[in-house]
Amino acid sequence: MVRISERVSALHISPIRRVTKILSEANVRREMISFGGGAPSLPPPQEVSSEIMNQMQTNPQGSTSYTGTRGMPELRALIANDWKKNQGTSYDPEKEVIVTDGATEALFDAFLSMLDPGDEVVVMNPTYLGYFEAVQLAGARLKQLPVSVVDGYQPNLETAKALISDKTRVVVLLSPDNPTGRIVKSDFTEGLMDLATDHDFWILWDSTYRDIVYDAKSQPKISELPGANERLLSIGSFSKEASSPGLRIGYALGPKGLIDGIEKIKQYTSLAPNTLSQYAMIKFLQGDVKERYLKTIVLPTYQSRRDIMSRMITEFLPESNTTKPEGAFYFFVDIRRYLRAMHMADEQLSERLLKEHGVAVIPGSFFGSQGKGHVRLTFVSEPEDRIETGIKRIASAVSHLATAPAFRRRNSG
Ligand SMILES: Cc1ncc(COP(=O)(O)O)c(C=O)c1O
Repeated sequence: MVRISERVSALHISPIRRVTKILSEANVRREMISFGGGAPSLPPPQEVSSEIMNQMQTNPQGSTSYTGTRGMPELRALIANDWKKNQGTSYDPEKEVIVTDGATEALFDAFLSMLDPGDEVVVMNPTYLGYFEAVQLAGARLKQLPVSVVDGYQPNLETAKALISDKTRVVVLLSPDNPTGRIVKSDFTEGLMDLATDHDFWILWDSTYRDIVYDAKSQPKISELPGANERLLSIGSFSKEASSPGLRIGYALGPKGLIDGIEKIKQYTSLAPNTLSQYAMIKFLQGDVKERYLKTIVLPTYQSRRDIMSRMITEFLPESNTTKPEGAFYFFVDIRRYLRAMHMADEQLSERLLKEHGVAVIPGSFFGSQGKGHVRLTFVSEPEDRIETGIKRIASAVSHLATAPAFRRRNSG
């Protein structure tokens, strides 16, 4: 075969591919209970699907032709308006907003626009799988800020400070978080913005789960912090809030110079965002469609699933440790006591759960070294009764455990 680039050869096989393998097994077997994927199981609002059909019927040429690289002006105006309403911050839709093919493209184009070879990017550990290779492709180096269940997965400002060097160009803030469901507290976000001002780096807020929040008061208004207008890039997505990850629409909001940079890269990676999907997202943001959908369908559904999963974990996996997610739709569960007793790693247990017990979970070590001995369980894919069954299956898989008397007592009846 003709030579493949060194850039690609140097990339590790992403754990995303291993996750996809787990999920494809989960999807083909109906009896399999999936706590694996992060894709919403709800249909998008009816207005969104009707608009796609309507556009194809009434505007077939327009809805399948290119738009400008930054996306349709009407969609950008609605995104800016939505941000103003929810976060209080004004962005100029002409200069400070770009529509992208999902948050994934926004992240990739942003890293390429912000980073030079040798620069450093601070991410939390554990964190979302999508950052590692994108940072590496930009030639930069990752530094990791450990977070732990004992602190509710909250980052520590002093530890963050110690990681900052004159090479630090970006700190990634993911809140609500994947894989932990944590919402970062305001004393951290305020301290981080001060640090960014003193050391002149970007804060990249991955706000993919911004509206999947179970107590709206808990989310700090990051874009309102002093200095945010100069050094904050916020990346958003419709994949989760509109339950439409396949429509591939995300966006970035930030200072004009950086948005111009992202647009330059986007011209060569994808030229323009998907037109039909942009029409659909315009419908989502018009009137009260989004608010009604979130308030009456998405949040009540996920909250009730979250509460059941929390109760089941407490009752059936009493030797585990986790925090109840304040946002997003994941529990990140420390199961080290079980694993030690079973002489197993999280990846092996996940494999066994998939093959022998009919439950798909994602090994915590995929999300970074701090995730070792944990599993990520999503409550987005299954209804309450199947969440109950799935947790019982996990409990029975670890039930031959010798060192958990509490576990045995509870399950002996
Ligand atoms: C934290 C985080 N960022 C970005 C993404 C990618 O989102 P999109 O579908 O908009 O590309 C995901 C998807 O799961 C995510 O969890």
